[in-house]
Amino acid sequence: MIKPHGSDKLNPLYVMDDAKRAALLKEAEGLPSIVVSSAAAANAVMMGAGYFNPLTGFMNLADAMGTAENMKTASGLFFPVPVINMVRDASSIKDAKRIALKDPNVDGNPILAVMDVEAIEQVPEDKMKLMTEKIFRTMDMEHPGVKAFNTVGNTLISGPIQVLNYSYFAADFPETYRTAMQIRADIEKAGWNKVVAFQTRNPMHRAHEELCRMAHDQLGTDGILIHMLLGKLKKGDIPADVRDECIRTMVDKYFPANSVMITGYGFDMLYAGPREAVLHALFRQNCGCTHLIVGRDHAGVGSYYGGFDAQKIFHDEVPKGALELEIFEADHTAWSKKLGKIIMMRDAPDHTKEDWVFLSGTKVREMLSEGKDLPIEFSRPEVAKVLMGYYQSQK
Ligand code: ADX
Repeated sequence: MIKPHGSDKLNPLYVMDDAKRAALLKEAEGLPSIVVSSAAAANAVMMGAGYFNPLTGFMNLADAMGTAENMKTASGLFFPVPVINMVRDASSIKDAKRIALKDPNVDGNPILAVMDVEAIEQVPEDKMKLMTEKIFRTMDMEHPGVKAFNTVGNTLISGPIQVLNYSYFAADFPETYRTAMQIRADIEKAGWNKVVAFQTRNPMHRAHEELCRMAHDQLGTDGILIHMLLGKLKKGDIPADVRDECIRTMVDKYFPANSVMITGYGFDMLYAGPREAVLHALFRQNCGCTHLIVGRDHAGVGSYYGGFDAQKIFHDEVPKGALELEIFEADHTAWSKKLGKIIMMRDAPDHTKEDWVFLSGTKVREMLSEGKDLPIEFSRPEVAKVLMGYYQSQK
Protein backbone atom coordinates (compact mmCIF):
# COMPACT_ATOMS: atom_id res chain seq x y z
CA MET A 1 0.00 0.00 0.00
CA ILE A 2 1.10 3.58 -0.64
CA LYS A 3 3.25 4.90 2.23
CA PRO A 4 2.01 7.69 4.45
CA HIS A 5 3.53 11.14 4.04
CA GLY A 6 6.88 11.53 5.78
CA SER A 7 7.21 8.11 7.42
CA ASP A 8 7.06 4.40 6.68
CA LYS A 9 4.21 3.79 9.09
CA LEU A 10 1.27 5.95 10.07
CA ASN A 11 1.80 7.55 13.45
CA PRO A 12 -1.57 8.78 14.70
CA LEU A 13 -1.56 10.91 17.84
CA TYR A 14 -4.72 9.37 19.30
CA VAL A 15 -3.91 7.31 22.39
CA MET A 16 -5.14 3.86 21.40
CA ASP A 17 -4.68 2.05 24.67
CA ASP A 18 -7.88 2.41 26.77
CA ALA A 19 -6.15 2.30 30.13
CA LYS A 20 -3.48 4.78 29.07
CA ARG A 21 -6.15 7.12 27.67
CA ALA A 22 -8.18 6.95 30.89
CA ALA A 23 -5.05 7.68 32.95
CA LEU A 24 -4.16 10.63 30.72
CA LEU A 25 -7.67 12.02 31.00
CA LYS A 26 -7.45 11.81 34.77
CA GLU A 27 -4.11 13.58 34.74
CA ALA A 28 -5.45 16.21 32.33
CA GLU A 29 -8.30 17.08 34.68
CA GLY A 30 -5.68 18.41 37.10
CA LEU A 31 -3.70 20.37 34.48
CA PRO A 32 -4.01 24.03 33.55
CA SER A 33 -6.33 24.14 30.56
CA ILE A 34 -7.44 26.28 27.68
CA VAL A 35 -10.47 26.16 25.36
CA VAL A 36 -9.00 26.20 21.85
CA SER A 37 -10.49 27.56 18.62
CA SER A 38 -12.62 25.37 16.38
CA ALA A 39 -9.80 25.36 13.81
CA ALA A 40 -7.24 24.21 16.39
CA ALA A 41 -9.63 21.52 17.67
CA ALA A 42 -10.07 20.28 14.10
CA ASN A 43 -6.29 20.25 13.68
CA ALA A 44 -5.97 18.14 16.83
CA VAL A 45 -8.63 15.71 15.58
CA MET A 46 -6.84 15.41 12.22
CA MET A 47 -3.54 14.68 13.97
CA GLY A 48 -5.24 12.20 16.27
CA ALA A 49 -6.75 10.43 13.30
CA GLY A 50 -3.46 10.06 11.43
CA TYR A 51 -4.45 12.39 8.60
CA PHE A 52 -1.67 14.89 9.30
CA ASN A 53 1.10 12.29 9.57
CA PRO A 54 4.01 12.75 10.38
CA LEU A 55 3.28 15.79 12.59
CA THR A 56 3.65 15.16 16.30
CA GLY A 57 1.85 18.28 17.47
CA PHE A 58 1.17 21.95 16.86
CA MET A 59 3.80 23.88 14.89
CA ASN A 60 5.82 26.71 16.37
CA LEU A 61 6.15 30.07 14.63
CA ALA A 62 9.23 29.11 12.61
CA ASP A 63 7.49 26.00 11.23
CA ALA A 64 4.26 27.92 10.64
CA MET A 65 6.12 30.59 8.67
CA GLY A 66 8.11 28.00 6.75
CA THR A 67 5.01 26.08 5.71
CA ALA A 68 3.14 29.28 4.82
CA GLU A 69 6.00 30.66 2.76
CA ASN A 70 7.59 27.58 1.19
CA MET A 71 5.44 24.62 2.23
CA LYS A 72 8.32 23.38 4.39
CA THR A 73 8.90 23.21 8.14
CA ALA A 74 12.21 24.38 9.59
CA SER A 75 13.51 20.79 9.45
CA GLY A 76 12.56 20.50 5.77
CA LEU A 77 9.35 18.46 6.04
CA PHE A 78 6.95 19.18 3.19
CA PHE A 79 3.65 20.49 4.55
CA PRO A 80 1.24 22.75 2.65
CA VAL A 81 -0.34 24.78 5.48
CA PRO A 82 0.57 25.70 9.06
CA VAL A 83 -1.03 23.43 11.65
CA ILE A 84 -1.28 25.76 14.58
CA ASN A 85 -3.02 26.49 17.84
CA MET A 86 -3.63 30.22 18.11
CA VAL A 87 -5.44 31.69 21.08
CA ARG A 88 -6.43 35.16 22.18
CA ASP A 89 -5.21 34.88 25.73
CA ALA A 90 -2.86 32.27 27.19
CA SER A 91 -2.96 33.62 30.74
CA SER A 92 -4.97 30.61 32.00
CA ILE A 93 -1.97 28.35 31.37
CA LYS A 94 0.73 30.85 32.50
CA ASP A 95 4.06 29.12 31.92
CA ALA A 96 2.81 25.56 32.45
CA LYS A 97 4.75 22.91 30.56
CA ARG A 98 1.91 20.44 30.33
CA ILE A 99 -1.68 21.54 29.62
CA ALA A 100 -5.09 20.23 28.62
CA LEU A 101 -6.72 21.44 25.40
CA LYS A 102 -10.48 21.75 25.67
CA ASP A 103 -13.00 21.34 22.88
CA PRO A 104 -15.01 24.47 21.95
CA ASN A 105 -17.48 22.44 19.87
CA VAL A 106 -18.88 20.06 22.47
CA ASP A 107 -21.10 21.04 25.42
CA GLY A 108 -19.13 21.45 28.63
CA ASN A 109 -15.83 21.83 26.71
CA PRO A 110 -14.45 18.34 27.40
CA ILE A 111 -10.71 17.69 27.21
CA LEU A 112 -9.65 16.89 23.67
CA ALA A 113 -5.90 16.49 24.06
CA VAL A 114 -2.93 16.84 26.36
CA MET A 115 -0.08 19.05 25.20
CA ASP A 116 3.55 19.44 26.19
CA VAL A 117 4.10 23.14 25.70
CA GLU A 118 7.37 23.89 23.95
CA ALA A 119 6.78 27.54 23.18
CA ILE A 120 4.26 30.34 23.54
CA GLU A 121 4.92 32.99 20.90
CA GLN A 122 3.22 36.18 19.83
CA VAL A 123 2.68 36.35 16.09
CA PRO A 124 3.45 39.92 15.00
CA GLU A 125 1.06 41.62 12.61
CA ASP A 126 3.40 41.48 9.62
CA LYS A 127 3.80 37.71 10.05
CA MET A 128 0.04 37.21 10.41
CA LYS A 129 -0.39 39.12 7.16
CA LEU A 130 2.31 37.18 5.36
CA MET A 131 0.86 33.84 6.49
CA THR A 132 -2.64 34.88 5.45
CA GLU A 133 -1.49 36.10 2.04
CA LYS A 134 0.52 32.94 1.37
CA ILE A 135 -2.13 30.47 2.50
CA PHE A 136 -5.21 32.18 1.10
CA ARG A 137 -3.73 34.38 -1.66
CA THR A 138 -5.84 37.25 -0.36
CA MET A 139 -6.15 39.44 2.73
CA ASP A 140 -9.84 40.06 2.23
CA MET A 141 -11.70 39.58 5.51
CA GLU A 142 -14.82 38.72 3.47
CA HIS A 143 -13.07 35.45 2.57
CA PRO A 144 -14.43 32.96 5.17
CA GLY A 145 -11.05 31.25 5.66
CA VAL A 146 -9.17 34.54 6.05
CA LYS A 147 -11.75 35.69 8.56
CA ALA A 148 -11.55 32.47 10.61
CA PHE A 149 -7.73 32.54 10.52
CA ASN A 150 -7.53 36.15 11.67
CA THR A 151 -10.10 36.19 14.43
CA VAL A 152 -8.82 33.57 16.86
CA GLY A 153 -6.03 35.63 18.40
CA ASN A 154 -2.31 35.73 17.69
CA THR A 155 -0.73 33.88 20.59
CA LEU A 156 0.65 30.65 19.25
CA ILE A 157 1.03 27.65 21.59
CA SER A 158 3.16 24.88 20.15
CA GLY A 159 4.33 21.43 21.14
CA PRO A 160 3.51 17.72 20.88
CA ILE A 161 0.03 16.46 21.70
CA GLN A 162 -1.71 13.26 22.69
CA VAL A 163 -5.29 13.12 21.48
CA LEU A 164 -8.00 11.67 23.71
CA ASN A 165 -11.11 11.75 21.50
CA TYR A 166 -12.40 12.69 18.06
CA SER A 167 -14.58 15.60 19.20
CA TYR A 168 -18.17 15.44 17.92
CA PHE A 169 -17.31 13.71 14.69
CA ALA A 170 -17.29 10.10 15.86
CA ALA A 171 -20.47 10.55 17.92
CA ASP A 172 -22.45 12.56 15.35
CA PHE A 173 -21.45 10.60 12.26
CA PRO A 174 -20.84 7.03 13.45
CA GLU A 175 -21.48 5.52 9.99
CA THR A 176 -19.37 8.01 8.09
CA TYR A 177 -16.57 9.40 10.26
CA ARG A 178 -13.38 7.40 9.69
CA THR A 179 -9.80 7.86 10.81
CA ALA A 180 -6.93 7.44 8.37
CA MET A 181 -6.04 4.21 10.20
CA GLN A 182 -9.54 2.83 9.66
CA ILE A 183 -9.55 3.75 5.98
CA ARG A 184 -6.15 2.11 5.44
CA ALA A 185 -7.48 -1.02 7.15
CA ASP A 186 -10.70 -0.97 5.09
CA ILE A 187 -8.75 -0.55 1.84
CA GLU A 188 -6.51 -3.43 2.77
CA LYS A 189 -9.47 -5.59 3.69
CA ALA A 190 -11.14 -4.82 0.35
CA GLY A 191 -7.93 -5.85 -1.42
CA TRP A 192 -7.72 -2.53 -3.28
CA ASN A 193 -4.34 -1.28 -4.50
CA LYS A 194 -5.23 1.68 -6.65
CA VAL A 195 -7.77 3.95 -4.98
CA VAL A 196 -9.06 7.32 -6.10
CA ALA A 197 -10.34 9.74 -3.47
CA PHE A 198 -13.08 12.28 -4.06
CA GLN A 199 -13.01 15.29 -1.77
CA THR A 200 -16.36 16.96 -1.26
CA ARG A 201 -18.26 19.46 0.82
CA ASN A 202 -21.41 19.19 -1.26
CA PRO A 203 -24.23 16.77 -1.88
CA MET A 204 -23.10 14.92 -4.97
CA HIS A 205 -24.82 16.08 -8.14
CA ARG A 206 -24.44 14.36 -11.49
CA ALA A 207 -21.18 16.09 -12.40
CA HIS A 208 -19.61 14.93 -9.11
CA GLU A 209 -20.90 11.41 -9.64
CA GLU A 210 -19.58 11.29 -13.18
CA LEU A 211 -16.18 12.67 -12.16
CA CYS A 212 -15.79 9.71 -9.82
CA ARG A 213 -16.79 7.28 -12.56
CA MET A 214 -14.46 8.87 -15.12
CA ALA A 215 -11.49 8.86 -12.72
CA HIS A 216 -12.21 5.26 -11.75
CA ASP A 217 -12.43 4.10 -15.38
CA GLN A 218 -9.57 6.17 -16.79
CA LEU A 219 -7.14 5.38 -13.99
CA GLY A 220 -8.24 1.75 -13.71
CA THR A 221 -8.65 1.99 -9.95
CA ASP A 222 -9.93 -0.81 -7.73
CA GLY A 223 -12.26 1.50 -5.88
CA ILE A 224 -13.43 5.01 -5.08
CA LEU A 225 -13.17 6.66 -1.68
CA ILE A 226 -15.78 9.36 -1.27
CA HIS A 227 -14.37 11.42 1.56
CA MET A 228 -16.63 14.21 2.75
CA LEU A 229 -15.83 17.07 5.06
CA LEU A 230 -17.80 16.81 8.30
CA GLY A 231 -16.49 19.96 10.03
CA LYS A 232 -17.52 23.57 9.90
CA LEU A 233 -18.55 25.26 6.70
CA LYS A 234 -19.55 28.76 5.75
CA LYS A 235 -23.14 29.95 6.03
CA GLY A 236 -25.29 28.68 3.18
CA ASP A 237 -23.36 25.41 2.68
CA ILE A 238 -25.42 22.26 3.23
CA PRO A 239 -25.12 20.48 6.62
CA ALA A 240 -23.13 17.25 6.73
CA ASP A 241 -26.03 14.96 7.66
CA VAL A 242 -28.03 16.11 4.61
CA ARG A 243 -25.01 15.73 2.30
CA ASP A 244 -24.32 12.32 3.76
CA GLU A 245 -27.87 11.17 3.02
CA CYS A 246 -27.67 12.50 -0.56
CA ILE A 247 -24.39 10.72 -1.18
CA ARG A 248 -25.54 7.43 0.33
CA THR A 249 -28.76 7.55 -1.72
CA MET A 250 -26.85 8.25 -4.93
CA VAL A 251 -24.14 5.61 -4.42
CA ASP A 252 -26.66 2.96 -3.44
CA LYS A 253 -28.62 3.45 -6.64
CA TYR A 254 -25.98 4.33 -9.22
CA PHE A 255 -22.71 2.55 -8.34
CA PRO A 256 -22.04 -1.20 -8.30
CA ALA A 257 -21.90 -2.73 -4.82
CA ASN A 258 -18.47 -2.66 -3.15
CA SER A 259 -16.97 -0.17 -5.60
CA VAL A 260 -17.28 2.88 -3.33
CA MET A 261 -16.45 3.59 0.31
CA ILE A 262 -18.46 6.46 1.81
CA THR A 263 -16.41 8.15 4.48
CA GLY A 264 -15.86 11.50 6.17
CA TYR A 265 -13.21 13.40 8.09
CA GLY A 266 -13.34 15.96 10.88
CA PHE A 267 -11.92 19.25 9.68
CA ASP A 268 -13.20 22.80 9.25
CA MET A 269 -13.15 23.97 5.64
CA LEU A 270 -10.38 26.51 5.00
CA TYR A 271 -11.58 27.57 1.53
CA ALA A 272 -7.88 28.01 0.73
CA GLY A 273 -8.21 26.71 -2.86
CA PRO A 274 -4.77 25.62 -4.13
CA ARG A 275 -3.09 25.23 -0.74
CA GLU A 276 -6.04 23.28 0.60
CA ALA A 277 -5.95 21.02 -2.48
CA VAL A 278 -2.36 20.09 -1.61
CA LEU A 279 -3.38 19.44 1.99
CA HIS A 280 -6.23 17.29 0.64
CA ALA A 281 -3.74 15.29 -1.40
CA LEU A 282 -1.42 14.82 1.57
CA PHE A 283 -4.08 13.48 3.86
CA ARG A 284 -5.57 11.18 1.21
CA GLN A 285 -2.11 9.65 0.82
CA ASN A 286 -2.11 9.15 4.58
CA CYS A 287 -5.34 7.21 4.36
CA GLY A 288 -3.98 4.94 1.66
CA CYS A 289 -5.28 6.46 -1.58
CA THR A 290 -3.13 6.60 -4.68
CA HIS A 291 -5.09 9.37 -6.44
CA LEU A 292 -7.20 12.43 -5.67
CA ILE A 293 -9.65 14.07 -8.05
CA VAL A 294 -8.97 17.78 -8.42
CA GLY A 295 -11.49 19.52 -10.63
CA ARG A 296 -12.74 23.02 -11.13
CA ASP A 297 -12.30 25.53 -8.31
CA HIS A 298 -11.31 22.81 -5.84
CA ALA A 299 -11.77 24.03 -2.24
CA GLY A 300 -12.45 27.51 -3.56
CA VAL A 301 -14.95 30.16 -2.63
CA GLY A 302 -16.31 33.17 -4.49
CA SER A 303 -13.92 34.24 -7.23
CA TYR A 304 -10.70 34.30 -5.21
CA TYR A 305 -9.01 31.57 -7.25
CA GLY A 306 -8.69 30.78 -10.93
CA GLY A 307 -10.77 27.75 -11.96
CA PHE A 308 -7.73 25.49 -12.23
CA ASP A 309 -5.23 27.09 -9.81
CA ALA A 310 -5.67 24.07 -7.52
CA GLN A 311 -4.25 21.85 -10.30
CA LYS A 312 -1.56 24.33 -11.30
CA ILE A 313 0.00 24.39 -7.83
CA PHE A 314 0.88 20.70 -8.14
CA HIS A 315 2.92 21.47 -11.29
CA ASP A 316 4.39 24.82 -10.28
CA GLU A 317 4.96 24.68 -6.55
CA VAL A 318 4.83 21.18 -5.12
CA PRO A 319 8.40 19.81 -5.33
CA LYS A 320 8.74 16.65 -7.40
CA GLY A 321 8.45 13.58 -5.19
CA ALA A 322 7.09 15.53 -2.21
CA LEU A 323 3.95 13.43 -2.40
CA GLU A 324 3.51 9.95 -3.75
CA LEU A 325 -0.20 10.35 -4.46
CA GLU A 326 -1.07 11.70 -7.90
CA ILE A 327 -3.95 13.94 -8.83
CA PHE A 328 -6.58 13.23 -11.45
CA GLU A 329 -7.08 16.56 -13.18
CA ALA A 330 -10.66 17.12 -14.22
CA ASP A 331 -11.87 19.84 -16.52
CA HIS A 332 -15.18 21.61 -15.98
CA THR A 333 -17.78 18.87 -16.27
CA ALA A 334 -21.44 19.27 -17.16
CA TRP A 335 -24.37 17.83 -19.09
CA SER A 336 -24.06 18.23 -22.84
CA LYS A 337 -27.45 18.78 -24.45
CA LYS A 338 -25.98 17.75 -27.82
CA LEU A 339 -24.62 14.43 -26.58
CA GLY A 340 -27.18 13.76 -23.85
CA LYS A 341 -24.60 12.93 -21.20
CA ILE A 342 -22.16 14.40 -18.73
CA ILE A 343 -18.73 15.07 -20.17
CA MET A 344 -15.69 17.23 -19.57
CA MET A 345 -15.80 20.46 -21.52
CA ARG A 346 -12.36 19.87 -23.02
CA ASP A 347 -13.83 16.83 -24.78
CA ALA A 348 -16.36 18.93 -26.69
CA PRO A 349 -14.51 21.89 -28.19
CA ASP A 350 -17.34 22.44 -30.68
CA HIS A 351 -19.90 23.20 -27.95
CA THR A 352 -21.11 26.71 -27.22
CA LYS A 353 -22.45 27.98 -23.90
CA GLU A 354 -26.00 27.07 -24.90
CA ASP A 355 -25.05 23.43 -25.37
CA TRP A 356 -24.48 22.87 -21.64
CA VAL A 357 -26.74 22.61 -18.59
CA PHE A 358 -25.19 24.86 -15.93
CA LEU A 359 -26.67 25.71 -12.55
CA SER A 360 -24.87 27.86 -10.04
CA GLY A 361 -25.01 27.04 -6.34
CA THR A 362 -27.12 30.14 -5.80
CA LYS A 363 -29.58 29.08 -8.49
CA VAL A 364 -29.84 25.59 -6.98
CA ARG A 365 -30.60 27.04 -3.53
CA GLU A 366 -33.14 29.41 -5.05
CA MET A 367 -34.98 26.65 -6.92
CA LEU A 368 -35.10 24.34 -3.90
CA SER A 369 -36.30 27.11 -1.60
CA GLU A 370 -39.08 27.87 -4.07
CA GLY A 371 -40.01 24.18 -4.24
CA LYS A 372 -38.94 23.87 -7.90
CA ASP A 373 -37.54 20.51 -9.02
CA LEU A 374 -33.91 20.46 -10.14
CA PRO A 375 -33.39 19.34 -13.76
CA ILE A 376 -32.54 15.63 -13.99
CA GLU A 377 -29.53 16.57 -16.13
CA PHE A 378 -28.11 18.33 -13.07
CA SER A 379 -29.17 16.19 -10.13
CA ARG A 380 -30.41 12.66 -9.65
CA PRO A 381 -34.11 12.82 -8.67
CA GLU A 382 -33.41 10.84 -5.48
CA VAL A 383 -30.74 13.36 -4.45
CA ALA A 384 -32.92 16.32 -5.39
CA LYS A 385 -35.70 14.88 -3.20
CA VAL A 386 -33.45 14.76 -0.11
CA LEU A 387 -32.32 18.33 -0.78
CA MET A 388 -35.86 19.53 -1.34
CA GLY A 389 -36.88 18.04 2.01
CA TYR A 390 -34.07 19.93 3.71
CA TYR A 391 -34.76 23.30 2.06
CA GLN A 392 -38.48 23.06 2.67
CA SER A 393 -37.87 22.22 6.35
CA GLN A 394 -35.81 25.41 6.70
CA LYS A 395 -38.73 27.71 5.86
S1 ADX B 1 -14.74 21.29 -2.61
O1 ADX B 1 -14.66 22.57 -1.92
O2 ADX B 1 -14.83 20.17 -1.70
O3 ADX B 1 -13.68 21.16 -3.61
P1 ADX B 1 -17.05 20.35 -4.16
O4 ADX B 1 -17.60 19.39 -3.20
O5 ADX B 1 -18.03 21.16 -4.91
O6 ADX B 1 -16.13 21.41 -3.40
O7 ADX B 1 -16.11 19.67 -5.21
C1 ADX B 1 -15.52 18.45 -5.04
C2 ADX B 1 -14.56 18.16 -6.18
O8 ADX B 1 -15.25 18.14 -7.44
C3 ADX B 1 -13.44 19.18 -6.39
O9 ADX B 1 -12.29 18.53 -6.87
C4 ADX B 1 -14.00 20.09 -7.45
O10 ADX B 1 -12.97 20.74 -8.16
C5 ADX B 1 -14.73 19.10 -8.33
N1 ADX B 1 -15.87 19.66 -9.08
C6 ADX B 1 -17.08 20.03 -8.56
N2 ADX B 1 -17.93 20.40 -9.55
C7 ADX B 1 -17.23 20.30 -10.71
C8 ADX B 1 -17.55 20.53 -12.10
N3 ADX B 1 -18.75 20.91 -12.49
N4 ADX B 1 -16.57 20.30 -13.00
C9 ADX B 1 -15.34 19.87 -12.63
N5 ADX B 1 -14.99 19.64 -11.35
C10 ADX B 1 -15.92 19.83 -10.39
